[in-house]
Amino acid sequence: MSEKTAELRRNDNQFIHPWDDIAKLGENQRTVLERGDGVYVYDSDGHRLLDAPAGMWCVNIGHGREEMAQVIYDQIMQLSYASPWSLTTGPAAQFSAQIAAEAPGDMNHVFFTTCGSTAVDSALRFVQFYNNVRGKPQKKGIIAHQKGYHGSTYLGASVSGKERDKNYLDFADQLVHHIPAPHPLHKDPSQSDADFLEQCVANLEKKILDVGPDSCAVFVSEPILASGGVIVPPEGYHARCLELCRKYDMLYLSDEVVTAFGRLGHCFASEAVFGIQPDLITTAKGLTSGYIPMGAVLVSDRLLDELRACGGDSAVFSNGFTYSGHPVAAAAGIKNLEIMKREKLFENAQTVGQYFQQQLRTLSDIPIVSDVRGVGLMGCVECELNQGAGDLELDYDLGNRIDKHCQELGLIVRPIINMCVMSPPLIITKDQIDEMVLILRTGVERAMQDCIDEGIWKPE
Ligand SMILES: Cc1ncc(COP(=O)(O)O)c(C=O)c1O
Repeated sequence: MSEKTAELRRNDNQFIHPWDDIAKLGENQRTVLERGDGVYVYDSDGHRLLDAPAGMWCVNIGHGREEMAQVIYDQIMQLSYASPWSLTTGPAAQFSAQIAAEAPGDMNHVFFTTCGSTAVDSALRFVQFYNNVRGKPQKKGIIAHQKGYHGSTYLGASVSGKERDKNYLDFADQLVHHIPAPHPLHKDPSQSDADFLEQCVANLEKKILDVGPDSCAVFVSEPILASGGVIVPPEGYHARCLELCRKYDMLYLSDEVVTAFGRLGHCFASEAVFGIQPDLITTAKGLTSGYIPMGAVLVSDRLLDELRACGGDSAVFSNGFTYSGHPVAAAAGIKNLEIMKREKLFENAQTVGQYFQQQLRTLSDIPIVSDVRGVGLMGCVECELNQGAGDLELDYDLGNRIDKHCQELGLIVRPIINMCVMSPPLIITKDQIDEMVLILRTGVERAMQDCIDEGIWKPE
């Protein structure tokens, strides 16, 4: 390690990173990234790494786009900020119209936020507002999935269902109810796919009936549960859940913070991939490809018409941020979408996405690979030493070993415990996928060999 890297790491000890273990603050020897170009990033010692998670599911157009830098620069020189309360700007107005044009059905309105968490938070506050205006203030219950992730605001974190994230923090538990994730790995081997689907749908209906339909306001679902480990629900699941929402006068919030803007081969996945038109969609990440922070909530005409009819002039949605519709972020968003369309990146995500899925599945022959799954350019390779044992400590250790080997070999994977989660930039080529899968194979095999050499595990 160079002296420069050592110095940066010492300085980094002052930075409390997300999900930092306070007891180990400052001990984490993070890789320092210095620059990026396309699907690659380079660390402070000049080591090239293929960025398999595209940052955090976000750098969809790839790193280092000069035209993004130019449009951001130009907008700052033109106008760096305007209050979204009483004023508007060309980029914010134009971008909202473009998003509405891409969105399914009558989702013709856009509420801008600063990130995915504030989008989810705003969407949930909108649901509360909607029911209050409609004279149904008792309808407040939120139903979401275990293993779902919806952000880090108080409400977003409350709705998230990852058990490990529930330590030492408070949550709006009286509002939120969780149901099991619709994870095909939880399907009983004796069960048919159709029966498994029925069971998953029944979990939602049972929860609605337990809580009481009059108290249930909204069902929140990621089309694919991303941070939970790329969980792909059984076919037809979302449409059946939407039917239940309609039956019990609940809204359906599709959290597309990860899946929108190309990851599954379309601008929005809810309708194009899963055949549903939700009431609300949240998006962020790919919205600006992570070049500038921004999030958004899409709202259907149906909800707004209802609100107008019920609330008249008194229904003010008192929610928003200094940076809602920030002109620089909006300008970046417009350019991002232009690049995606010009370079046909949604189409690339479809074709290369299929190849990615096929190639990932070739890893199933490695003895410690317990599952390979995904859709489009979202994939997960789950590894386990003692399959089915659920030994968390061993799983963490294995994930860290795979991560370390892959990084030495030139690949960033995002270990979520023992799951290697990947969501590469949409510009990725088949050759780069081959490179990624080859490194991952070597990394997993080396981690397995370490465990054999250290007597932690032996093959059957
Ligand atoms: C589905 C989903 N919703 C919301 C969020 C929160 O987004 P942010 O980290 O931009 O606040 C995330 C972040 O990973 C996410 O995956």
